[in-house]
Amino acid sequence: MLPFKAKTIIEPFRIRSIEPIRFTTPDEREKALAAAGYNPFLLHSDDVLIDLLTDSGTGAMSSRQWGAMIASDESYAGSPSFYRFEAAVKDITGFKHVIPTHQGRAAEHILFSTAVKNGDVVPNNTHFDTTRANIEHTGAEARDLVRAEGRQPQTILPFKGNIDLDALRATIEEVGVEHVPLVMLTVTNNSGGGQPVSMANIRAASEIAHEYGIKFIIDACRYAENSWFIKTREDGYADKTPIEIAREMFSYADGCTMSAKKDGMANIGGFLALNDDDLALNCRNLLILTEGFPTYGGLAGYDLEAIALGLYEALEPDYLHYRIRSIAYLAEKINAAGVPTVQPSGGHALYIDARSMLPHIPVEQYPAWSLANALYTVGGIRGVEIGSVMFGMQPDGSEKPAAMDLVRLAFPRRVYTQSHVDYIAEVITALYEQRESIRGHRIVWQAPVLRHFTIRMEPI
Ligand code: F0G
Repeated sequence: MLPFKAKTIIEPFRIRSIEPIRFTTPDEREKALAAAGYNPFLLHSDDVLIDLLTDSGTGAMSSRQWGAMIASDESYAGSPSFYRFEAAVKDITGFKHVIPTHQGRAAEHILFSTAVKNGDVVPNNTHFDTTRANIEHTGAEARDLVRAEGRQPQTILPFKGNIDLDALRATIEEVGVEHVPLVMLTVTNNSGGGQPVSMANIRAASEIAHEYGIKFIIDACRYAENSWFIKTREDGYADKTPIEIAREMFSYADGCTMSAKKDGMANIGGFLALNDDDLALNCRNLLILTEGFPTYGGLAGYDLEAIALGLYEALEPDYLHYRIRSIAYLAEKINAAGVPTVQPSGGHALYIDARSMLPHIPVEQYPAWSLANALYTVGGIRGVEIGSVMFGMQPDGSEKPAAMDLVRLAFPRRVYTQSHVDYIAEVITALYEQRESIRGHRIVWQAPVLRHFTIRMEPI
């Protein structure tokens, strides 16, 4: 046999159904952006060429998933589609109670409304915006305790998503056990650059929480990607499969919130999974009020089928290899051109460090927002600001710059190919070469919470 080891990592699928993308001119995009109040969230998506706004619900489903959806059962109560979904979640997470929700934030809302009260503090490595908002909605504080290096874009470490264990312990001591109803850990750490959390850190955070009798909950949106990073970066895991690693991660927790729109490989859906009988009972009661009966929780039977398969497909090694590599490939190309990105590249997304790239734009003029808008007008690429527009407004309405100003380019799962990535690299490189011409933005109108979704801006 001829010795051959391929260097090219190919998409581990072939494409049997396609969706055309629409080409527009820079002039047309300038007009579309102005009409959208310079807010990429308010663009019509058919005016976007390559949409990297989010990896949430935007993935391509497999033929197996579509097939299972056709064969789903839409019974209001006790549908076999629910039992297949429940079996998959239990098989992977090991949790006793599986509560379907229409997406991740519904699981958060139900959990926090049930377990968290005014004056409490919920520690996490970094809360995602909906998680933070749902905690603050109860009057509690969402406290981010990611390790210090997790806030340094250029520091290269394998597990920059780790929670600072000393800070976790200090927080519990400071506010008192009775005011810390849950300890959370987000894998991977989305708002902190898509950085993974190590198994050692998950285990240690769980031990600290349990030492104080506090429940330990994983925000599991990207559990499969985190498993892959553990496999490839943490000692002792190279020979384990992603599913074995995922099972170990969940074994340290008392429950999880999940958006199946990410590593559930579905276009909609989520769940809350818990071991505690009483907590699950109370959560199910609220579920009936706000989402639906406990065997569908706001989802169609076909959504439950798609998730039941998607949770496993997300753990396939060939898929994870291709996925994580695609992002690293883009990072290598634009880093070589000089573009600063969060190091090392993350699981579901690449984060451009806009504050370093655009030092001529003061933080008060939102450099990352400005870069996202330039990416759209120049190349038709839609990314999202993870920075001072998203996080800068304090609960009392005052303004404080976020720790970092990043543009996140999030990759829908199984959607774009290597030539799309090459095009993206070309656009970003061209922008970098003309970066001094990019202007800052000011706020024209904003909502009191989660302002980035609807904010209206103008270039300065
Ligand atoms: N937790 C994390 C870490 C997330 O990234 C998200 C969603 C959620 C919870 C909420 O899940 O959207 O199903 O309600 N993140 C998306 C994103 C929106 O673009 O990163 P959801």
